[in-house]
Order: sequence, then C-alpha cells, then structure tokens
Amino acid sequence: MLTDLKPQAPDKILALMSAYKADPREGKIDLGVGVYKDATGLTPVMRAVKAAERRLVETQDTKTYTGLAGDPAFAEALSALILGPGAPRDRLAAVATPGGTGAIRQGLELIRMAAPEARVWLSDPTWPNHPAIAAYLGIETKTYRYFDSETGGVDFDGLMADLAQAAPGDAVVLHGCCHNPTGANLTPDQWRDVADLLARTGAVPFIDIAYQGFGDGLEADAQGTRIVAEAVPEALVAASCSKNFGIYRERTGLLMALAPSAEALGVTQGAMATLNRVNFSFPPDHGARVVTEILADDGLRTDWEAELEEVRLGMLALREQLAHALRDRLGSDRFGFLAAHRGMFSRLGATPEQVEAMRRDHGIYMVGDSRMNIAGLNRATVPVLADAIVAAGV
Ligand code: LMR
Repeated sequence: MLTDLKPQAPDKILALMSAYKADPREGKIDLGVGVYKDATGLTPVMRAVKAAERRLVETQDTKTYTGLAGDPAFAEALSALILGPGAPRDRLAAVATPGGTGAIRQGLELIRMAAPEARVWLSDPTWPNHPAIAAYLGIETKTYRYFDSETGGVDFDGLMADLAQAAPGDAVVLHGCCHNPTGANLTPDQWRDVADLLARTGAVPFIDIAYQGFGDGLEADAQGTRIVAEAVPEALVAASCSKNFGIYRERTGLLMALAPSAEALGVTQGAMATLNRVNFSFPPDHGARVVTEILADDGLRTDWEAELEEVRLGMLALREQLAHALRDRLGSDRFGFLAAHRGMFSRLGATPEQVEAMRRDHGIYMVGDSRMNIAGLNRATVPVLADAIVAAGV
C-alpha cells in the first residue's frame, strides 16, 4: 500500500526553512517562515505567557478531556478580542482548533459539509496552504485579484470586479489584517465596500485572522473583521494565537461561525464539534488556557499588550529603515511601499532569479515569490539586505 504513495510537493515555505538550516554560512539571514524574531534572532516566550504558564502549573488540578469545542472560556475570550464587545453572541458558534491552520481546515470542511458545490474564492496571491487544503478536500477554488505589483498596493478595482462574480453560497477567504504574502491591506472604507458587496451577492466571507496586533494595533487590526461580521448574515472566522501570543508550537486557534439565526446556531455548533471529533477529537488545550488566563487577568493582559506593541513597533521601525536604506541607495521611492505595508510580510517584487541570486550570493532566504518576513531582520541586517536587493538588480 505505502509503495503506491506518490511523492508530495513540499510546502515551499517549509522547504525554505530546511534549506536555511542546512546552509553553513555565517551571517545568513532567514526572511522565510512567518515567525517573529527579536534583535538577537530569538523567538522569545512572551512575559505574560511565562507567567500564565507558571500559574497553570500551580493551579491546574486535572488534564482530563475538555469538550469537543475546547474550553468555552477560551472561545469567549478570543472571540471578544477579535469581534469586539458588539459581537452577536446569540449567533456565534465556535470551536477551538489546532492552530490557525486547524481553523482553516475545519472551516473549509464545514463549507464542504454544508454546501458541497460551493466554490471558495482566494486572493491572488494568498498563503499557499489555503489552496493546498482546499485542493486536498476537493473544493473548487477561484481567485480574485488582490495585489498590484506596480504600486505594491491593493488592486481594489480588480478585487471588487472579481468578487462581484461570486455566487450566493460561495465562500470568500479574506485576510483579516497583515495580508500574507503581500503586506498590502484594505482600508476601513474598502472593507465596508467589500462587506456590502458580499451582503449583496450572498457569498459567505471566511476571514483568516492570524496577525492581529502586528499591523496597526489590536483594535485597528480587527476592524475589517468586525465590519464584515456586522454586515452579513453568515460568516466564518479562523483565528490563530501563534503569532500574537508567540505560542507557535502550542497549536492554538479558534474557528468561529456566525449563524444566520439563533435557531441555526445549535446545528452549526454541532456540525463544528462533529468535525473536530472525526478529525482529532479534542483540540489542544494548553495554549488555549494560557491565552484565556492572559485575556481574563488585567495585569497579564496589560503586560501582553505592551509586549505585543513593542513587537509591532519594532517591525514598523525595520520597515522604515529598509525603505529609507533603499531610497538612499537608489535615489528613488520605488520601495516606499515597504513602509506602508503592515504585518510581518511584504512582497518585494523580485523575480525568482533575483530571489535565488540573493540566496546564493548573500545567504538571504526569502520565499520564491519574493515574500520576506520583516521580523527576520534587525537594525544591522537591514543594510545587508538593501545592498543585496540593489546588487540583484531588483
Ligand atoms: C507563514 O506563512 O510563514 C506562516 O503562516 C507559517 C506557515 O505555517 O506557513
């Protein structure tokens, strides 16, 4: 049986992680996988996470199973952080999932369960695991225009024209903030236009929010999701705590579904619990409990928000420094979009050959589509990258 398996194409982001590890060169720079690194290259455990974990060790008296949906307190705390105080709780179903990827997977499974013929619209470009999971599940995908490589901004007219073609009951995946891989994001007004369009067409938004707090701040980064959730009868939201709580390996995520009515809520919640049961039974609990502890405790929450803000401002400063370094070297503002982008990623606009040259000649690793993780830089490596970009002729 196993001899019948066909070799699988490796995920390009994870393949890059391995290539970077295997490179013996000193001074190599990892701008690949979306993991935050501080100025010393470490992905730290956040202070509030350490404190919450210490508390849990002291106070937790059982590790017996939770429910299939995970601890309800986690869903309540995280949905409030994302959807805000105005969240329609009487229509909100939610299940904890293994990370944001688990939430995407369960959300796509829910779509397929509810509407096997539904098509799923993905931004062009998007995180490569979106189409990979959809293809694995046999879900038909369509793409909508998103990125204007000339300006480094959003091709909003293209996006609206393409999404106008979505049929009632299709799902539209939107990045809640900090678009991955481009770093180009919708303004609140544009979010309103998208929300109105979806409300008109009857397509169901499926928001992937994995970087809340990394762009313009915790509240600002949730605004698009809230605008959409208020405008449409049904929506799905996949949330990740990997990045903003720095608990990548704890696999902490949440799938939320806004049901069209209080009556539909029970069936929706039941379907989501069933999907958890058949895929992995109970979701991981440790990270979820840490997050709940932090969000529910004023002291821990204040400290977490302060540290997250330091991280965000650090990335913004690196963006400014890089845009400035390129302006100095090129005498043009061609890369000004790097400072306007938000989140961990920006798409530089280099060709695959130029990306390869930067890897070969300078030990700089970015994804082949020239997505780079800004958090992989520090003040000392920004000039090295700027020189490499110029040398590669980007
Ligand atoms: C990324 O896009 O680099 C992250 O979301 C990590 C991953 O799993 O791909």
